Amino acid sequence: MALLIQNIQQLAGIRYKNKLLRGAELAQLSVLDNAYLVVEEDTILDFGVMEELSGAEAYEEVINASGQTILPAWCDSHTHLVFAASREEEFVAKLKGMTYAEIAAQGGGILNSAKKLNAMPQELLYDLASERLLELMQKGTGAIEIKSGYGLTVEGELKMLRVIKQLKERAPIPIRATFLGAHAYPLEYKENQDGYIKLLINELLPNIALEKLADYVDVFCEEGFFSVAAMDTICNAAAKYGLQPKLHVNQLNSFGALQKAIELKAVSADHLETMTEKDIADLAASSTIGTLLPTAAYFLRMPFQPARALIDAGAAIALASDFNPGSSPSGNMNTVVSMSCIQMKMLPEEAINAATTNGAFAMGVQEQTGSISIGKKANLIFTKPIPSINYIPYAFGSDLIDKVMLNGEII
Ligand code: NIG
Ligand code: FE
Repeated sequence: MALLIQNIQQLAGIRYKNKLLRGAELAQLSVLDNAYLVVEEDTILDFGVMEELSGAEAYEEVINASGQTILPAWCDSHTHLVFAASREEEFVAKLKGMTYAEIAAQGGGILNSAKKLNAMPQELLYDLASERLLELMQKGTGAIEIKSGYGLTVEGELKMLRVIKQLKERAPIPIRATFLGAHAYPLEYKENQDGYIKLLINELLPNIALEKLADYVDVFCEEGFFSVAAMDTICNAAAKYGLQPKLHVNQLNSFGALQKAIELKAVSADHLETMTEKDIADLAASSTIGTLLPTAAYFLRMPFQPARALIDAGAAIALASDFNPGSSPSGNMNTVVSMSCIQMKMLPEEAINAATTNGAFAMGVQEQTGSISIGKKANLIFTKPIPSINYIPYAFGSDLIDKVMLNGEII
């Protein structure tokens, strides 16, 4: 049975051809004024302008969207949604002047999260993650990538990935899983880093492949974490199991990690707070998507990512939340979109495209979602009445979402 949504003030994010957007293309957000959209089951069946709508009486179910704007749901291509506990005590310690290194030395940071996650039963971890996911869906997230990386033991990493697999099976949205065993070296391996890399390659990867627990591999490539050489070794090993890389690079330093990510044909290179002119040019000339995480830069008081320079150089960029307890304790994509315009001078059209269609490409779900296109899932955001799409990033503190439709159903 088909559902008609009529009198839509603006239907935004229409795409007739699925295409990763780069450079100037990012500003092209196709919008229909006074539009209708037809949903059959979970799929977009048709759309157009109201004047061309015929047979409206035949629909049993009709939604009137007068005054409302409809957008494709957000595609959040970089999160660490599965974690055992928040870390607001570290946040306050930092406010009081403690450094990240001091916190880490006391067992804080990623290792703190790992300790708590290893102690938590899988069922509880699932319940917490599932609650967080529901909150994000209500805020408009209609596809999400989720990483492991708070296990850092064979059992802990497998537990996290199994939770993600359960979410995949039960949640109404496309979910992609990424293996981030190389997030931090556990204390026991501090003097034996090669030993930990061997554990990832010899003990984790084969099991992950056997249970089909991951779609991608990630490495946190930074000074004090994983080297460029370690990233190369891990990604080459993961490639044998069909896992493509999506990588944490150039967050704190620029030391060749981005260039290696490009050479490894990474689907995306994520973070990019620290970018030289050469880094910007190299990324723009590559097929790798640059995924910008402005809320992480904000929370850590780091310079924002050079979105303008990247777009002007012709790069393909996506926006994501980096939701995690340490550097971005929010997965609200509305905030991400707003912050991108306010702090990185992205245009509203560029930000919306980067957070929808390009986000979908950055996690391989572009056939299913990311735009208003016939045959794609009806994963839609209905805004409250707003004057124009520019109002979405502009009114940064307002909740502009009236309702969210996922798979053709209002949640
Ligand atoms: O993406 N940069 C590395 N990993 C996370 C932070 C992890 C944490 O502090 O728990 C990030 O920002
Ligand atoms: Fe991250």
